[in-house]
Amino acid sequence: MDKQQRIIQMFNDISPTYDRLNRILSFGVDRRWRRNGCQAAMKIHGGPVRHLVDVATGTGDLILFWRQAAASQGITIERITGVDPARGMLELAQEKVNDVTFLEAPATALPLADGQADLVSISYGIRNVVDVDGALKEFYRILAPGGLAVILEFMSREKLTLMDRMNRLYMHQVLPRVGALISRDKAAYTYLPESIQDFMSREQLCDKLSQAGFEPVMVRDEFLGISTCFIVRKPASAATP
Ligand SMILES: C[S@@+](CC[C@H](N)C(=O)[O-])C[C@H]1O[C@@H](n2cnc3c(N)ncnc32)[C@H](O)[C@@H]1O
Repeated sequence: MDKQQRIIQMFNDISPTYDRLNRILSFGVDRRWRRNGCQAAMKIHGGPVRHLVDVATGTGDLILFWRQAAASQGITIERITGVDPARGMLELAQEKVNDVTFLEAPATALPLADGQADLVSISYGIRNVVDVDGALKEFYRILAPGGLAVILEFMSREKLTLMDRMNRLYMHQVLPRVGALISRDKAAYTYLPESIQDFMSREQLCDKLSQAGFEPVMVRDEFLGISTCFIVRKPASAATP
């Protein structure tokens, strides 16, 4: 099994306790980060959404926040697709979220036609994609010209603030223990802090996004940089596929 397959298998294994642990381990603040990201992107998009694609959708949490943001701004979403390679996560998403098409696929091979999405999102998922460039290329391909990509992620940090040090202590000492206790999978919750530390910095992801052809729209840190929201646009002048 290669690294990517091992990661997907791990999410399949922890899927039954994923939602519960997410809320416990983040003290529920992840809800705020999701809400803020969806609200900001929906405001920037500013009109009806023909097709929204949530990649690495997991148990479908972000879709609920997309719907709330659209409703609060009087925006309609015609069609929603959730994509994830872990079947266990998708089965839970199907029980939780209605009127969504769920597809089992990785971010690097989205089974969707070119230029059909107005919004593409990925929350706390890009860090788990081994081929980040391949995923960004796919986001660009399926977006319509002028469409937005929205990424929420825990980025690695070069210079650590006091808050970063406290967060690291929590991530390395507390989170693996609580995670192991509830999910019975110690490795999965050791993987989480390690994957953040090994991932890119905010600046590195910004570079990758511009290399993939995106225009920057907004980058915002939440909770003193614990979580970062990136919103980028496929140029309106990009060739229509
Ligand atoms: C931390 S969860 C985030 C789930 C959800 N987006 C959320 O915000 O709760 C990461 C998700 O990434 C998915 N994933 C792992 N490798 C992936 C890949 N190569 N392409 C797309 N998704 C992937 C996992 O199956 C898992 O559902």
